[in-house]
Formats: sequence, C-alpha cells, structure tokens
Amino acid sequence: MIDPNSLIRRLGVDPVALLLSNTLMGKLYDRSVRVVLAFALTLAVSAACVSDLGSVAYKPLVSPVQRCMNLSGALEGPSEGEWGYTVRMSDIDKIADAGFDTIRLPVRWSAHAGKSGRYELDSDMLARTDEIIDYALAKDMNVILNVHHYYQIHHNPSKHERRLEGIWNQLAAHYAAYPDTLIFEVLNEPHTKMTVERTDALNKRIVANIRKTQTDRWILLATAEWGSLPGLIESQPPQDPRIMLSWHYYDPFSFTHQGAEFFKPTPPIGAQWGNEDDLARMTADFRAAAAFRDTHGMPLLLGEFGVFDAASVEERVKWISTVRHLSEANQFGWCHWGFSSNFQAYDPEKEAWIEPIRAALLGD
Ligand code: BGC
Repeated sequence: MIDPNSLIRRLGVDPVALLLSNTLMGKLYDRSVRVVLAFALTLAVSAACVSDLGSVAYKPLVSPVQRCMNLSGALEGPSEGEWGYTVRMSDIDKIADAGFDTIRLPVRWSAHAGKSGRYELDSDMLARTDEIIDYALAKDMNVILNVHHYYQIHHNPSKHERRLEGIWNQLAAHYAAYPDTLIFEVLNEPHTKMTVERTDALNKRIVANIRKTQTDRWILLATAEWGSLPGLIESQPPQDPRIMLSWHYYDPFSFTHQGAEFFKPTPPIGAQWGNEDDLARMTADFRAAAAFRDTHGMPLLLGEFGVFDAASVEERVKWISTVRHLSEANQFGWCHWGFSSNFQAYDPEKEAWIEPIRAALLGD
C-alpha cells in the first residue's frame, strides 16, 4: 500500500492535485474520469518504482536547469533570420519574466567555422552569441550553448570529428572566464554513423579537452540515436561530477510531428494522444530514463520536447503538460522545444504567449 504523503514527497508533486489542475486548466482529461484515474495509478506505480530503485542506488541529484526554453529557429538556421526568427533581447526578458530559469541556444557552428587548420570560428558569430549569452546571464539565467545541425558529422564522422573538437577548443577558450551558469552541450542529436560507441568516445575526448581549462563548467552530453531513450540507456558516459546527460522526447512521433512538413513523409494531421495505453507507455519511458539516471548518478535533462503547431492547442497541451509533470515527478529538468519559431509556445504575430501552452509549462 502506498502512503499518499510519502508518494507526494517522492514525486515532488501531488498526483491528484496535478490531475485536477490539469483538468481545470486545459480540459486535459475531458474524455473520462477513467483516464484520469489510470494516470494517477500509473504515476503511483511509477513513484513506487522510483523509490525501489532509490533504496539501492539513488542519490539526490542537483541539476542547475529546471525549466528551460529552447531559443530555437534562429542561430541554428544557415544564418540567423533565414528561418524567419531573429533573437530579440526582449524575448529573453519575456522568457525570464515568465519563470524559466534557462535558455538553450542552438547554434549551427559548422556553418561558421573554417574547413581546415584550426577551423577558425567566425568572429561575428561569436560576437552575436556573446551578446545573447551575456544578456541572459545578466538576468540570472543559465544558458546552454550547443552545436546544432552539424549534419555532416552524423554521416561522415571520420572527416568531421576533428573539426568538432577544433570548434570546442575555441569555444572553451573563448568562454573560459564565463561563470558556470554557461553550460556547454557537445552535439545535438547524434545519429546515423555517430553510433552510441562513437558518440561516447567523442564525448569523452571533448570533455577531457574542456576540462584542461575549466573544471567547474557543466557539460551536457547528448546521446546517440537522435538523443532518444534507446540511445541514452545504451550509452556509457564519462564519470565527472559536472556532467549532465540529455535526452529528447517526441513520442509518439506520428503525434508530435503531425503536419511537420520538414519531415518526409509528413505524419498526417489529426492524431490524438492521451488514452490509458499512451499514458502507460510514456510513464514507462520516463521510469526507464530515471532508472538509467539513478544508476549513473548524474542529472538528466529532457533537452527537447514539444508538439508541432499543426496539432490542435488542446492536443498539444495534453501531451506537453503530461511530459512536463512526469519530468518534474522524476526530477528531470526540462527544456521546451520551442519558443516562437515552430513548436511554438509564443505567438510572434500576436506578441503574446499561447496561454494554454504557457500554462501547461509553468502553471500548477
Ligand atoms: C531539430 C529541429 C526540429 C526539432 C523537432 C530538433 O532537434 O533540430 O529542427 O524541429 O528537433 O523535430
């Protein structure tokens, strides 16, 4: 029998309050009380399993990142603005004022680095990232700086790994004096030929290089297979007190990417999410991620999750709210994808948060 108070303590959230607030807030579980109860039961079982693990290997894990927003679609494009979004400092104000503690800044450094020699980084791009990072740090936020959309490395690692190391040698030197609220993320979503083994080995080399000049810097490591759960649980991360692991969650893909024309074949619009099986599957995924985290004793960040804008706001809210609460129940920090480019939380035309999405992320 599960004691409800200890359950609430372990989860860090009262599942009944959570469900009630979800129901009122976004009419999430408007279908039936059965689904709500099934979810409560699933969370209770999940909490019991977290605690079972806890008695063996669990250590309290402190991640500097709790609630984070991806500043997506700007510096990750071939050049900033090319995908319709240019970062404004007022966006960072809005994100901070809403209650996020971190921004993740995806940057396509491979488009701003030399092709040989020391792979020199473009000074204008560095100045632009300085501007954004300095502004966010001055607002007491953390910033996760990553290497995003380095497509070539995933298909031809033997040619590009050295270049990524060169890029990180320069970024590490450039930001060596920055406070530890600036976090480095080595490579977004390794995949294809960046296998689990290859990603583990590359991560190890780049961590060792960064550690030559900065021992306190948090380093975030993405795992192979697009940062998914299977890639995460096969990985062998290097042991280091200031490494965080990252995984991304977009399951079921046919639901979260419905109508996302950048993906071919584009999953059809109209998929729904939230029945008992859906909840059970998601809860089991989060439990598996937490078990891996507990075994390795490192904080785990859900570095990306979101639903493409073609889904109805109601469907998006249901899924986003559940992922967010499961993350928090399992003590994962999280980072929503994205801000105002696509997978929107903020409507750039209305210059306003999409209120149900904001509430799903930051409400009770
Ligand atoms: C990719 C984006 C994509 C998002 C959702 C990110 O990691 O870089 O281009 O929109 O995942 O699929």
